[in-house]
Amino acid sequence: MRLQGKVAVVTGAGNGMGRATALLFAREGAAVVIGDVDMAGGASAVAEIEAAGGRGVFQRCDVSKEADVAALIDTAEQRYGKLDTIFNNAGIEQPVTPSTDVTEELFDRVIGINLKGTFFGCKHAIPALLRNGGGTIVNNSSVSAFANVGGNISYAASKGAVMSLTRVLAIEYAKRNIRVNAINPGVIDTDMNRRNAVLSNDPAATEERWRAITPMGRMGTGDEIAQTVLYLASDQSSFVTGVGLLIDGGRVAT
Ligand SMILES: NC(=O)c1ccc[n+]([C@@H]2O[C@H](COP(=O)([O-])OP(=O)(O)OC[C@H]3O[C@@H](n4cnc5c(N)ncnc54)[C@H](O)[C@@H]3O)[C@@H](O)[C@H]2O)c1
Repeated sequence: MRLQGKVAVVTGAGNGMGRATALLFAREGAAVVIGDVDMAGGASAVAEIEAAGGRGVFQRCDVSKEADVAALIDTAEQRYGKLDTIFNNAGIEQPVTPSTDVTEELFDRVIGINLKGTFFGCKHAIPALLRNGGGTIVNNSSVSAFANVGGNISYAASKGAVMSLTRVLAIEYAKRNIRVNAINPGVIDTDMNRRNAVLSNDPAATEERWRAITPMGRMGTGDEIAQTVLYLASDQSSFVTGVGLLIDGGRVAT
């Protein structure tokens, strides 16, 4: 019970690695506030938490809208009395395309959710964490911040910027008991990659390529991501701040 008595916010927890993390946080004793644009996914994540004897609540939240994110943090404090940790996880892919074909609208949409959404999560969590005497922030960056995936310029730019933002905040709040870290997943078996595979027009070849670029020869799972987020969110990582932890099956080591 590494989060016993803690209160957590997880964005994008209706599906994928956010959902796996919300479920693990609840199993470890946290009350979890889930924000997502997917109403059905968010509601079913809470139902799964409650069925396992945990505590959680879903609130619709588009992380690219500052007022939505502020309201999500407010719900954590109003309903559970405080905030201990936030996993800024919500994000979207950019369909693989030549960079010069990326429209301003697509670029803005990816940056708006992946980067601005993470900024809003940090901006509104920090005052709540300070009111609580401190806490932790984990941002979901990507291996794309370090390794060239190709054909997804807005996504790679957003995830690189999430790393920079993480380091800025880690230093700014290092003496005020807020630790700010990021994770950098490699290829993980979630709906995002199932969509990416379909968009590639040759899903089997795409998945084979993903396995080939990953030394461990397989995709990661949401549960493997959740375990790393738990480490960074909990006291287990009490002297860790400003890092991005690769969970990539060896990809960046090659
Ligand atoms: N899947 C991978 O291989 C991979 C690798 C590296 C990083 N990531 C990052 O991990 C995070 C989670 O991705 P996933 O693979 O679990 O994808 P996913 O599509 O399975 O889940 C993403 C969740 O975010 C939600 N979401 C989308 N836009 C939102 C918005 N505006 N506001 C709130 N919620 C929103 C979706 O409804 C969904 O529930 C993303 O930030 C993604 O960029 C994924």
